[in-house]
Amino acid sequence: MNALHDEPDAIHDVIGIGFGPSNLALAIAIEEHNAGATPESRIRAEFLERQPSFGWHRGMLIDDATMQVSFLKDLVTMRNPTSDFTFLCFLRERGRLVDFLNAKTLFPLRIEFHEYFEWAAARLAHLVGYDSEVLSVEPVRSDEGEVRWFDVTSRVPGSPERTVTRRARNISVAVGLEPHLPPGTTLSERVWHNSELVPRVAELAASGTPVDRILVLGAGQSGAEAVDYLHRSFPDTEICAVFAKYGYTPADDSPFANRIFDPEAVDVYFRSAPEVKQSLVDYHRSTNYSVVDMDLIESLYATMYREKVLGRERLLLRNVSRIRDVQARDDRLDVTVEYLPTGEREIISSDLLVHATGYRPRDLDALLGRASKLCLRDDKDAVLVGRDHRVEFTPEVTAGIYVQGATEHTHGLTSTLLSTTAVRSGEILDSLLAHRAGDAAARTDCPTPTAA
Ligand code: FDA
Repeated sequence: MNALHDEPDAIHDVIGIGFGPSNLALAIAIEEHNAGATPESRIRAEFLERQPSFGWHRGMLIDDATMQVSFLKDLVTMRNPTSDFTFLCFLRERGRLVDFLNAKTLFPLRIEFHEYFEWAAARLAHLVGYDSEVLSVEPVRSDEGEVRWFDVTSRVPGSPERTVTRRARNISVAVGLEPHLPPGTTLSERVWHNSELVPRVAELAASGTPVDRILVLGAGQSGAEAVDYLHRSFPDTEICAVFAKYGYTPADDSPFANRIFDPEAVDVYFRSAPEVKQSLVDYHRSTNYSVVDMDLIESLYATMYREKVLGRERLLLRNVSRIRDVQARDDRLDVTVEYLPTGEREIISSDLLVHATGYRPRDLDALLGRASKLCLRDDKDAVLVGRDHRVEFTPEVTAGIYVQGATEHTHGLTSTLLSTTAVRSGEILDSLLAHRAGDAAARTDCPTPTAA
């Protein structure tokens, strides 16, 4: 069954798809705008999230993992430091402000930042539908042939076979990244992606099943965290990291390089020619991709060395190596690992293989369906997105799609991260308001829409 809310009063100014930190920050910006606005200038917004409740990378909420961004780059501070949605306000409310200050760090626990996000999301519960996966986005034309709205169809909470359709003048797509796996990989009880690490480890530990050996593929932050966490969680188990690099390499968080995440750097990147954009990404890739926090590198090395001294080595490396084959044998895996310098192959019998092989942007074309055909594209077929994060369309489209996250090609390295989330949400709000002012005439005369 599909219900359509199409009476003009029910037309939203914006529907957000996904309710991770990006759209949560936008929801706060809209809430703060609405609080000081006249009824006519309020933004009517709703956000749809497929998870049953707020959750930010829950599978990687490792107890001692810390944020890789300053707490001042929270959901609001860089846009509005006087907001009561700041991380500091959250701390004050939890009675931990003084204790946090005494810890003298800019980098809270990941678990604590998750708690902060949950706290902010709970205050905006009236704007969010959980358990509401968005299945499609359809352009809707006015009688004059102008694409003035989008119909957003999502599952009905608690009845996944039923759907409901909402109509909006704009949508904000912030559906995040999805786990990336090497081609041909099938996840199973014994083959995991690190995104499900914490619950899987808890399940396995509770089952009491003996675990002799675990392989972890990948040399990035998630790989190093998985190795460390598994090593602590299973004190009798051999943990073997496999990667093509020679060794883990540190994330560059030095002050000058870190400026690549400044709001101004987005302007510079946005204005640059394609070859300059590429060189900026290449020069500064090590701020984010396939790198590990130095503290964790040093701690893993100290553990390896200590085990060598004690004569019981269970944290092992297969560096300069690649996994060539994985065969399930009874209750184990036979994993063929090739040492790249010689081509020599060994079969390692393992209980588990954890892929810490990164994340990729989700397929926006599949989500946007016919709407994606209206988007203008560059010569690499990537969607053109304006500085205000609004997709560029053919002239007959006056409805808007804002994209957050999948814009590394236009807005640079910070796109998938938290660094400019607060500022970006302010830019999107300003753009929504500017377009609405331009559309004011159309709003007073809202003809019956027909499907495009
Ligand atoms: P995010 O992925 O968080 O949220 C997208 C939401 O959309 C999800 O809740 C998803 O369920 C929902 N969704 C997807 N499809 C949907 C659909 N069809 N319908 C409805 N909902 C849908 N960055 C940083 O700057 N500092 C850091 O410390 C970290 N730490 C970190 C740790 C780990 C383990 C990971 C994997 C990543 C980071 N990151 C990070 C990067 C990370 O991308 C960033 O922190 C935010 O998650 C980006 O927020 P978004 O809201 O854009 O995506």
